[in-house]
Amino acid sequence: MVCLGNICRSPLAEGIMTHKVKQLNLNWQIDSAGTGAWHVGELPDRRSIATARKYSIDITGQRARQLKPHDLDRFDLILAMDSSNYQNILRYAISEDQKQKVHLIMNFVNPGRNQNVPDPYWDDNGFEQVFQMLDEACDKVIEHFEVEV
Ligand code: 4NP
Repeated sequence: MVCLGNICRSPLAEGIMTHKVKQLNLNWQIDSAGTGAWHVGELPDRRSIATARKYSIDITGQRARQLKPHDLDRFDLILAMDSSNYQNILRYAISEDQKQKVHLIMNFVNPGRNQNVPDPYWDDNGFEQVFQMLDEACDKVIEHFEVEV
């Protein structure tokens, strides 16, 4: 799960997906990162923490990190929150195989529409919408690869 700062959107995506795969007993490894380094080492944004907590998901164990080239080897699927993240991730890709792993997460909900998960950093009210978008997207990703949810 990749966004810009790894403090707002991708920590929510990591928390939601981790919660779902645990419930479904799937052997998936979930992680998140940011394309930028400004917030490395920080906790998720307090508004992301509060929104996740509302749905009984604890994301306070997460610390922000920056995406690294090796991530495109380590993971089978790299999910970008918006088109800017998507373009930045592709710059790390050194093979067609790596490029094929990178997707906009909302394309699992609306294929081909290239919809962004909006950056809620400057909008206190944006976090709930981001949570709902990611909750639906994570269900679709799981459905696509594994099981009906
Ligand atoms: P995120 O949100 O990419 O969803 O973690 C942002 C957090 C911080 C900044 C930008 C986006 N920033 O510029 O500091």
